[in-house]
Amino acid sequence: MNVFIGGAWPYANGSLHLGHIASLLPGDVLARYYRLKGDSVLYVSGSDCHGTPIALRASKENISPRAITDRYHLEFKESFEKLGFTYDYYSRTDQAFHSSVVQELFLELLEKGYIYKKEIEHIYCEDCQQFLPDRYVTGICPVCGEMARGDQCDACSSLIDPLELKERKCKLCGNEPILKETEHFYLALSSFEEELRNMFQGKSNWRDNALKFTERYLKEGLKDRAITRDLSWGISVPIEGYENKKIYVWIEAVLGYYTASKEWGIKNKKDWEKFWGDKVKAYYVHGKDNIPFHTLILPALLLGLGNLHLPDSIISSEYLTIEGRKLSTSNNWAIWVPYMLERYHPDSIRYYLLIKGPEKRDCNFSWEEFINSHNGELLGAYGNFINRTLVFAEKYFAARVPEAEIDPEIEKGLKELYQQIGSKIEKAELKSGLETIFSFIRSLNKYYDEQKPWITVKEDLISCQKTIYTCLQAIANLANLLEPFLPFSTAQIREFFNLEKGSWSYIELEAGSPINKTKILYERIDKNRIKEERERLLKEHKIS
Ligand code: MF3
Ligand code: ZN
Repeated sequence: MNVFIGGAWPYANGSLHLGHIASLLPGDVLARYYRLKGDSVLYVSGSDCHGTPIALRASKENISPRAITDRYHLEFKESFEKLGFTYDYYSRTDQAFHSSVVQELFLELLEKGYIYKKEIEHIYCEDCQQFLPDRYVTGICPVCGEMARGDQCDACSSLIDPLELKERKCKLCGNEPILKETEHFYLALSSFEEELRNMFQGKSNWRDNALKFTERYLKEGLKDRAITRDLSWGISVPIEGYENKKIYVWIEAVLGYYTASKEWGIKNKKDWEKFWGDKVKAYYVHGKDNIPFHTLILPALLLGLGNLHLPDSIISSEYLTIEGRKLSTSNNWAIWVPYMLERYHPDSIRYYLLIKGPEKRDCNFSWEEFINSHNGELLGAYGNFINRTLVFAEKYFAARVPEAEIDPEIEKGLKELYQQIGSKIEKAELKSGLETIFSFIRSLNKYYDEQKPWITVKEDLISCQKTIYTCLQAIANLANLLEPFLPFSTAQIREFFNLEKGSWSYIELEAGSPINKTKILYERIDKNRIKEERERLLKEHKIS
């Protein structure tokens, strides 16, 4: 099977925080799982380098936008790598290949009539002497009546056209902007309504939030949208006389899934088109504020271009709160990934964000729970089970797998796990998948306690060998089962047993094979850390 996985492209204008990782991590779990199963996987993403916030920040700091995107693109790459993300290709939108393919696609859609030019009145601030970028217009949301930004309403998540806002204000100077004539290009979203509705009908493997939002948009009816902006930073409209207009950041960013696939294929001499044909399963992984761009805009573009595979699975996470409060980058109420990675094991971060993750509802990150989950579950259940088994084998069986038969119950349990966990991962029910594995680990600890190998080693050697043999086989298989979730721990276990690489199927260690000198998997984290980290968070918090 071919599996395409598109991870959302983070904006390259600030470090990644745990909220980003919580929504992106399911993509890596999927990619690792399908590769272990032997499927052909293409997992792509990149840095989203255009857009007004980056341009504005650059002008404020008096540097070029590219100086900013270079800095964060490199940082993102490093953070993702340290967290174990296995993108086949991690691109960026401010590079020539992406721009030129986007421009080609723009012209193709224009030629087919799905993009058209229109004279309109747009929001212009006379004080700032410029047409206002969407998010620099504020006003009252036409849908719910709350204050909203010109691109999206945070209160009701509606996609808004800034012209629909009531009581508009310029966010830069606070004055009321006027309407001024200009020309823009429009995407004929309304002409795809039927096809999008048909696509939507058959969808069972979208997250609930994606189904709900999309259904609501379709019910309201789709309107054509302006897809160009008067900006200096972005991809130019490839038509003479319109080079100063830029393609709207969301339009070119979602096309990045396609341009990155193509670039990957060309660079690596691989068949990339199969990931956009009929025989592929396509997953899109992002946060809930990205939903309409992936369930309507991207499919409309793909339908317009023709014969390109539409999304099958939409894995759109809810939000992560921090210590019970809404995450805010501007107030620095956030936990930054580079900081986390300096201080904590990447698998501890992955474990927490997957088992406590915002899969179906908003969820919270608290330092107390994070440190307790590391100490109690990773170290306390998993790490201890491995450690006690390996230490025992080293001491009494000369660091070799003893000769014995596996406990049939445990063998059966392990074999079933491949089935169960596999089907949960395919549905992106990662929390439940990880919980199931950890409850099995707890039952293994119980088995160890009940079998009492430290007694049977003196009284009933056969039984002792069976216990340790069984536990060792369990560890080798847990390494496989947990690879999508906790890849660093898995790599370490494979070193213990000289295992090259895993697969998504039951494995058996040979009796007599050596076990390498063991290192412990996880260090205990001092409980005082909870207080320290909380105080630091509060201290660095900027109240605005
Ligand atoms: N940059 C956007 C965000 O951070 C996500 C873009 S996803 C893409 O919300 F597919 F459009 F690139
Ligand atoms: Zn609203």
